[in-house]
Amino acid sequence: MTRRSCLIGFCGAPMLARAREAESLAATARAAGHLFGCAVRPDQMLADPDFAAMVMRDCAVLVPEIALNWSYLEPRPGMPNYAAMDALVAMARGRGKRLRGHVLLWHLGVPDWARERMSWKLVRGYFRRTILRYRHVVREWKVVNEAIDTGQRMDGLRENIFLSAFGPDYIARAFREARVLAPRARLLINEYGLEYASDQDRRYLFLELLKLLKRDGAPIDGVGLQSHLDLAKGPFDPAVYRRFLDQIAALGLSITITELDVKEYDYVLPAELRDRRAGEAVRAFLDTVLAHPAVRGVVTWGFSDRYSWLGVTDSDRARTPEAWQDGSSPGVNRGLPLDSDLAPTPIYHALADGFRALKRPG
Ligand code: G3I
Repeated sequence: MTRRSCLIGFCGAPMLARAREAESLAATARAAGHLFGCAVRPDQMLADPDFAAMVMRDCAVLVPEIALNWSYLEPRPGMPNYAAMDALVAMARGRGKRLRGHVLLWHLGVPDWARERMSWKLVRGYFRRTILRYRHVVREWKVVNEAIDTGQRMDGLRENIFLSAFGPDYIARAFREARVLAPRARLLINEYGLEYASDQDRRYLFLELLKLLKRDGAPIDGVGLQSHLDLAKGPFDPAVYRRFLDQIAALGLSITITELDVKEYDYVLPAELRDRRAGEAVRAFLDTVLAHPAVRGVVTWGFSDRYSWLGVTDSDRARTPEAWQDGSSPGVNRGLPLDSDLAPTPIYHALADGFRALKRPG
């Protein structure tokens, strides 16, 4: 048994994690009847035991950031690549971790070979192989991701490979297909860009789609709201967002925050102030979200800035060439619960305080 495998859980919870379990985000969320977790890449967990220990300590839900994408699982026909997902299953096993399947149908996750000869037979085969392989450990699936877009069609559906191959019914059809294979799993539809006042059209289109799916009797249990907060956008209007959550709940759907993080805008400020701004954005968002009875939990998209998909972009650099003069986190976006040194950020505290403020369900 190596120190590394021990830390990530193959020898049981490390003493330190056990001692601090009472204060972990997982425990605080659980006490409020919520679930907390994050998206992870098993290769990063295996290569970085300190990071892995923090994830295992704080997260009750683990979501594969990439490992379950169709293009990742089946880069070539007939040659599936299950190693990363299997490694994640091994990490979760025996530790009471839930795994959430991300993601079955996503236009950006289709392998080239399937794109070239798309058919429902191909979709069905991929659903079958993937859902059945992980049916004992994955009890919740994001079935369709990012299906809407503005400025394309009257019905708001995104012009994508699935729409052109199968027509607008592909979403309900995907849910029916998944339901047959996973009769007891929770099936979610996942969407981004819904948080800000300026996202009004996207909220409208998404709600219309949900109503249509319910009218069609699609077997959908809940909605995943990605929630990539963006400090360049805004404002966040609690009343508007609460109403949006109410409208989803009125359709009988549960709500999960599935990809929370913060994209910064002003990289010139001192790190402390940047952290405060990101933390305040999360706090304001969670104040509205966690209080809503239909919301079941929160997953952040990554756990530490060390591995965030949210890098500083070329346009950020061009906009703020004077940034990072004080040497703090050069080139890093600070938008997750832990910073690059694995120290808790104000986002971590916003989560902890948000869960703690909730009453234990009666
Ligand atoms: O690992 C390969 C590497 O071998 C190769 O050299 C390199 C060249 O591009 O690519 C590397 O893979 C990249 C992978 O991340 C790992 O870094 C892929 O190109 C890149 O596309 C992939 O990006 C992921 C993206 O989804 C697409 O799968 C991001 O990490 C992941 O955070 C992002 O997650 C999405 C959600 O699925 C849906 N919602 C939005 C969210 C953020 O974009």
